Amino acid sequence: MNKEKSNKIRAAITAVGHYVPEKVLTNKDLERMVDTNDEWIYTRTGIKERRILENGASSDMAAKAIQELLKYRGIGPEEIELIITATVTPDMLFPPTSCIIQDKVGAKNAWGFDVSAACSGFLYALSVGTQFIETGAHKKVIVVGSDKMSSIVDYTDRNTCVLFGDASAAVLLEPSDDPSLGILDSKMYCDGSGGKYLHMKGGGSLNPPTHETVDKKWHYIYQDGKAVFKVAVIGMADVSAEIMERNNLKSEDVDYLVPHQANLRIIDATRERMGLDPSKVMINIDKYGNTTAATIPLCLSEWWQAGKLKRGSTVVLASFGAGYTWGATLLKWSIDKVK
Ligand code: UT7
Repeated sequence: MNKEKSNKIRAAITAVGHYVPEKVLTNKDLERMVDTNDEWIYTRTGIKERRILENGASSDMAAKAIQELLKYRGIGPEEIELIITATVTPDMLFPPTSCIIQDKVGAKNAWGFDVSAACSGFLYALSVGTQFIETGAHKKVIVVGSDKMSSIVDYTDRNTCVLFGDASAAVLLEPSDDPSLGILDSKMYCDGSGGKYLHMKGGGSLNPPTHETVDKKWHYIYQDGKAVFKVAVIGMADVSAEIMERNNLKSEDVDYLVPHQANLRIIDATRERMGLDPSKVMINIDKYGNTTAATIPLCLSEWWQAGKLKRGSTVVLASFGAGYTWGATLLKWSIDKVK
């Protein structure tokens, strides 16, 4: 997928937006719910607090993120041509959450579909959306990551309940006004043999919901944390190094790493492998925990709104998640500094 041709259409992120629910669930709150403590959670994961959506669904957060993005871009919802939603917590198994979002934001000229790739969902969806711009099929594509993880977390299981939070963030893809800026390269992987270590067993066609599946807690996230950690630490670092190598980038050429926010120790391993200074890594896991498909665009949106992301910045996005799925994307940021 190396992009060498100069006359081709380049896809660029031209606007970003995000939404996080107001309710904060702190490590101290969790101490009152399960046998855990702030020190364990913070030192093992880097998480201090996360957000919880009390009312509504993934589509409600996504609609708010998209509305913010449209405001920044100064366009109406009817200009959107396609909505691609990355989520593992769709409002329902069907209709697609993208269709529900399309209705909620009033994007009456858009079509849409969902991408299910867990914590790599945003990068997978970004890669798909990029193709629609590069082929000339569309000029305005929304890629949104939205997950209400609290809807599938067992708040009696200390192994998982401390890790996840709710959020949504969205980007707009358009043809780049400068061919040197935009999405330059992308490399995605999956390995289905990892499915047994991180999944939600119930509710699908294999184990449709019954009293038994509810009693067995199959409608919650199951994770063998240690097993996932071992491969995630290698997978995310390897693919980040690979995207640098195949684009002849040295550490000083990279302005920002935007890693999936699952564990600060995984992020640190990736940063070290890339030879980056800690100041070049976007980290907000302390505030939000793991918001699955939302982590990467949430970082982009916060850093851009804070005026830290500048037009021309070289940015590497990297993820690892259930599947296993993992990948990295290289881009040159194309939006002017927020005013
Ligand atoms: O985003 C999708 C991909 N997911 C990931 O990348 C997550 C990867 N895994 C991880 O981030 C880490 O494995 C965890 C944060 C989930 C766990 O950290 P760990 O250092 O691997 O801990 P562990 O699972 O090996 O558990 C160590 C100890 C155990 O006690 P014993 O057996 O040593 O007595 C656990 O029972 O910590 C215990 N423990 C806890 N203690 C306090 C597990 N969870 C908790 C907790 N509070 N919340």
